[in-house]
Amino acid sequence: MSPLTRLALPALAVLGAVYAQTPTCSRDDTFTVQNSGDATSLGECDTYTGNVEISSDLTDDIILDGLQELKGDFVISGNSALQRISGNSLETITGKLQVDNVQNLASLAFPKLTELGQLTLQGLPNLRQLEFTSQVTKCPKIDIQNTDLQDLNGINVDKAESIFIANNKGIGNITMDVTNVTDFLTLSFNNEEVDVSFPKLLQSKNATFRACGSISLPALSKIAPGSLGVYDSKLESLACPNLTSIAQDLTLNTNSALANISFPELTKVGASLQIANNTQLHKIDGFPKLAEVGAALDMSGDLTEVSTPSIDFVKGVFNLQSTNDLGNTCDFYDKKKSDLGPSSKYVCKGKLDEARTAGGGTSGSSENKTGAAFPLHVQPTYLGLAGLAAVLLV
Ligand SMILES: *[C@@H]1O[C@H](CO)[C@@H](O)[C@H](O)[C@H]1NC(C)=O
Ligand SMILES: *[C@@H]1O[C@H](CO)[C@@H](O)[C@H](O)[C@H]1NC(C)=O
Ligand SMILES: *[C@@H]1O[C@H](CO)[C@@H](O)[C@H](O)[C@H]1NC(C)=O
Ligand SMILES: *[C@@H]1O[C@H](CO)[C@@H](O)[C@H](O)[C@H]1NC(C)=O
Ligand SMILES: *[C@@H]1O[C@H](CO)[C@@H](O)[C@H](O)[C@H]1NC(C)=O
Ligand SMILES: *[C@@H]1O[C@H](CO)[C@@H](O)[C@H](O)[C@H]1NC(C)=O
Ligand SMILES: *[C@@H]1O[C@H](CO)[C@@H](O)[C@H](O)[C@H]1NC(C)=O
Repeated sequence: MSPLTRLALPALAVLGAVYAQTPTCSRDDTFTVQNSGDATSLGECDTYTGNVEISSDLTDDIILDGLQELKGDFVISGNSALQRISGNSLETITGKLQVDNVQNLASLAFPKLTELGQLTLQGLPNLRQLEFTSQVTKCPKIDIQNTDLQDLNGINVDKAESIFIANNKGIGNITMDVTNVTDFLTLSFNNEEVDVSFPKLLQSKNATFRACGSISLPALSKIAPGSLGVYDSKLESLACPNLTSIAQDLTLNTNSALANISFPELTKVGASLQIANNTQLHKIDGFPKLAEVGAALDMSGDLTEVSTPSIDFVKGVFNLQSTNDLGNTCDFYDKKKSDLGPSSKYVCKGKLDEARTAGGGTSGSSENKTGAAFPLHVQPTYLGLAGLAAVLLV
């Protein structure tokens, strides 16, 4: 007998009712589902209030047909036998849906699910797709890591606090209609060819992309508060046609195929703009309106031409280093130097054996050696706080 029905019995005995028809649909303590019978009794409730956990020993398929709403968390953690979980009526889980380290899980089918308090999927090496046919459209926190998912079909939220999608080697396509991410957006080391597209994203707090094949952010207009970073990616070009300001850093680092950067509307980077170690990037001319950099303007690599014609304020550090011939690039900055705010550290040099970042990191070498980084020695008194932070944090 299931804990649910066991709990229900005394009261039912008094009423003389048939217990199976009046299940207990609310509990204060966590209900641990031990077998398929327990799951079936949950399904007898339209709404169940309380947290539900699936026993790590359970081997049967879990079928929650009948249950429409779970007011609480639904957690399956560390189960090595379970293969299928389904619930054909389930529409809402007000708490979190957490499925982690369920090695053999091959099917997660909630065809009517549209609303979750939080989604955590981790350590699911046999889960190739989500069967969320109606699409989850409300879920403020999404965390998906180490699964075999081939796509994220079934999840399409319009607002989110956080989206963290990492180490899912099968995901070749991440598309979401989210318009605003208020905490962080991180896509990291999924399939290295992954096409990333957020066609409606207007604003994000920290947005970090690692190992992406392409990134499309056509509507993005603001990164605030926080930073935008693209690292270790194979994309050939990056364009943010509508982005006007970034509250903190813009970092484009170690993207081995990146050849074209376009930020036509960007006027302000609140802290540091760093472009480094992108071996195919030779010409940086995609910042026609950039006027202000709050800490460091830091570009290094095999560069032949850099132009930021509107720049009139760089607060902390100006560092432009190239292993290639920069042509007359430095004439512009040398002349501008005195106008560039209290920039205590100014370097503009081409034809170097090694191009380094403001923090001393190697960013390409004429003999491509990976010399150890040395810290830049900066007198704190010569730098604004933000500039110093930028140098120390690079
Ligand atoms: C990516 O997924 C979206 C939504 O499922 C689809 O419209 C688009 O065609 C896919 N793109 C690629 C390159 O597969
Ligand atoms: C995004 O959400 C934040 C926090 O609620 C808000 O301040 C900001 O105006 C929103 N941005 C847009 C473009 O809606
Ligand atoms: C946001 O980015 C900043 C700078 O890159 C970093 O220090 C901070 O940890 C990030 N926060 C989150 C939540 O990712
Ligand atoms: C970019 O911004 C312009 C002006 O605000 C707007 O008309 C246009 O629709 C935006 N583009 C996208 C793709 O949202
Ligand atoms: C760089 O990208 C911009 C915007 O996508 C495009 O207009 C331009 O033609 C590209 N330049 C090169 C050399 O590919
Ligand atoms: C530069 O890129 C190479 C590979 O492309 C990488 O091994 C190296 O660690 C990167 N250097 C820095 C300072 O990020
Ligand atoms: C430098 O890089 C080239 C091309 O990536 C490679 O063929 C060559 O062996 C590298 N040289 C050294 C000294 O590592």
